[in-house]
Amino acid sequence: MQLIKKAVMALEFKHVTKQFQSNSGEMLTAVKDVDFRVEKGEFVSVVGPSGCGKSTILSMTAGLYQPSTGEVSVSGERVDGPNPHVGFMLQKDLLLPWRDIISNVEFGLESRGLNRAARRAKAMEVLIACHLGGFEQHYPYQLSGGMRQRAALARTLAIDPEIILLDEPFSALDAQTKLLLQNSFSKVIAEQKKTTLLITHDLAEAVLMSDRILVLSERPGTVIAEIKVELPHRDEPLKRRNLPEVSEYAAQLFSYLKLEEKAF
Ligand SMILES: Nc1ncnc2c1ncn2[C@@H]1O[C@H](COP(=O)(O)OP(=O)(O)O)[C@@H](O)[C@H]1O
Ligand SMILES: [Mg+2]
Repeated sequence: MQLIKKAVMALEFKHVTKQFQSNSGEMLTAVKDVDFRVEKGEFVSVVGPSGCGKSTILSMTAGLYQPSTGEVSVSGERVDGPNPHVGFMLQKDLLLPWRDIISNVEFGLESRGLNRAARRAKAMEVLIACHLGGFEQHYPYQLSGGMRQRAALARTLAIDPEIILLDEPFSALDAQTKLLLQNSFSKVIAEQKKTTLLITHDLAEAVLMSDRILVLSERPGTVIAEIKVELPHRDEPLKRRNLPEVSEYAAQLFSYLKLEEKAF
């Protein structure tokens, strides 16, 4: 008898609906019947109108919120509480201003039973991967916005997460810095073979960085399209952006979102 082994997905959303109770007591449906899978090592972006539930999807992946119905699994295990194997990075870098960069990167390792030398070694390794070697003793205020985001990525990578969640990490940066940072994030994430879920409202960014893009509807958000980006250079957006197909993909995404807008 031949055994067929079912591949374990890095992330699975199975018919997930999430409702919140508003201040007035009414139930608000943030996302509805969201159903998708992310393979190990894949880079998937989620785009959709503001308020459609993108951040809610990340929070449920991290186990900060529970679905009202449906199920979320990371590496084949149902998420039923804060998940230490998920690395969550927000738009604001949340570095601790009173700690130097290396101590900031070590922060997430302190609760994991590693001794000081092992923590330092791991922190140094990810800082170098993020091209911050030489800045370990600097304080956050001494770094540029782009460097701080790279330090925040290093901190996220230090815990060796099974999945990295990025919630609009570049949206506060100028256009130039953003391009360079997209490039360095993509390189590090590809080198480290990390599974990644990126939330962005920047359609070009989604095309430049992703293997696949999920398009969400207006609230209650549900997946209305899934686009596979069949272009080379996923690890190097600065190269990918020179391909003429990039604007075609972005236009396709835009048309989905615009269609939705028209419906309201
Ligand atoms: N903790 C919460 N309590 C009540 N409502 C919430 C909560 N978190 C999010 N929401 C609501 O859910 C909807 C989706 O929010 P969010 O996921 O932040 O959207 P997005 O990230 O796509 O802009 C919004 O209407 C928001 O107000
Ligand atoms: Mg959001």
